[in-house]
Amino acid sequence: MKNIILVGFMGTGKSVVGRMLAERLKCPFVDLDAEIEKEAGRSIAQIFAEQGEAAFRRREAEKVREISKRQGIVVATGGGVMLDEANVRLLKRCGTLVCLTARPEVILERALSRGPSRPLLDAPSPKERVEELLKLRAPFYSKADLAIETSDRTVEEVVEEIMAKIVEGGNPK
Ligand code: S3P
Repeated sequence: MKNIILVGFMGTGKSVVGRMLAERLKCPFVDLDAEIEKEAGRSIAQIFAEQGEAAFRRREAEKVREISKRQGIVVATGGGVMLDEANVRLLKRCGTLVCLTARPEVILERALSRGPSRPLLDAPSPKERVEELLKLRAPFYSKADLAIETSDRTVEEVVEEIMAKIVEGGNPK
């Protein structure tokens, strides 16, 4: 089975949707950020603070290379993974890229409810920061194979839509 790779901005539900989708497909689920944290023995916020964003991006690219060698998995990526062209090329080669989207205010609400784990939103006006980053990143996210809006929907509904659009007979189309 081709991999299903969830991409998109933070707070769009990649991890929760990915976990449920993998359960439905009875296949392994890989959360790139969680893998990076496990390997580094520290949180993403700590990696950013202690080693800088560039070090985090190197770890992220390394994880992308690792998962690009696997098959039959559902992957949740971090919101910045599509900014690196080499990441996009590798991910496209090994899977179908599904971009989850949400309105800025929904993103903000979801991100803030999870505490100070999003270093990129540590700004005087997180709302403006979200809007600015969304605008900057739109061309990168548009490289995904399809986009699914998550704002007013439950995790189950989003999983259903992904299944309906790209899964056929238990395998991604
Ligand atoms: C980032 C998003 C985060 C995490 C890191 C950088 C980004 O992942 O990878 O803080 O650049 O948008 P989530 O999208 O899971 O929050």
